[in-house]
Amino acid sequence: MPTAPARPAVIAPSILSADFSRLGEETRDVVAAGADWVHLDVMDGHFVPNITFGPEVVKKLRRWTDALFDCHLMIAPADPYLEAFAKAGCDRLTVHAEAGPHLDRSLQLVKSLGKQAGVAINPSTHESAIEYVLDKIDLVVVMTVNPGFGGQSFISEMLPKIASIREMIGDRPIRIEVDGGVTPETAALCAAAGADAFVAGNAVFKDGPDAYARHIAAIRASADAALSGLAA
Ligand code: DX5
Ligand code: ZN
Repeated sequence: MPTAPARPAVIAPSILSADFSRLGEETRDVVAAGADWVHLDVMDGHFVPNITFGPEVVKKLRRWTDALFDCHLMIAPADPYLEAFAKAGCDRLTVHAEAGPHLDRSLQLVKSLGKQAGVAINPSTHESAIEYVLDKIDLVVVMTVNPGFGGQSFISEMLPKIASIREMIGDRPIRIEVDGGVTPETAALCAAAGADAFVAGNAVFKDGPDAYARHIAAIRASADAALSGLAA
C-alpha cells in the first residue's frame, strides 16, 4: 500500500479547452468537480500563434469561484500588462523566460503587486534560464508542448528537464507544474521526474461537464501514486 505523498499533486484544469461561450459556468463546474487551481491561458497572437482573452475576462470570471487563478501569460512584452492581470484577480502570474530580456525585473514587478510569481520555459529552453531567479519564484512551469494550443502531444524529452529542475530547486518551496499533453499516463511520468502540479485541458474537458470529476480524479490518482512512490 503506497504511503500518501508528502506534497500531494495539484490539478489545474486549463479553461482553454472549455466552452468559451459559457466560461463562467465552466469555471464554476470544473472547480466543483475537484480542480485545485484554475489555469488561465493568456495568448497574444505574437509570442504564440493564437489569441485568447485578457484581464477583463479574468475579472468577470473572478465572480464564479474563489479557487486560485493560475495565470499563464503567453504574451510579449508581459510587463505592461502585469498590473492589469493582478487587479483582475489573478493569484499567480507566470511569465515566460523567453518573453523578454529582463526576466528578473518582471518577477520583481509581480512580487511588488503582491502576487505569486511563476516562470514558464518552452520545450527548447534550457533549465539554466531559471537558475538565477529561483529565490524570486513560487512556481516553475515546464512546457511539455510548444505553447499556443490545447490538445497537442506530450514531448517526453521534457522528463529529464523536470528532474534537473527538481534538483536545482532543492529545499525551496517551489512547485513544478507541467503544461501540455497531460493525461493520467503522462502525469505519472512527470510526477516520477519531480513535477507536482498538473495542467490539463483536453484531458479534463474532452467529454463534457459530467466527466470533469472523473477525469480530474484519474489524473490526481495517477500523479499521487507516482509521488508516493518517490517518498517510499
Ligand atoms: C498551451 C497551454 C496549455 C494548454 C494545455 O499553450 O499553455 O495550458 O491549454 O492543453 P492540453 O492539456 O490539452 O495539452
Ligand atoms: Zn498553460
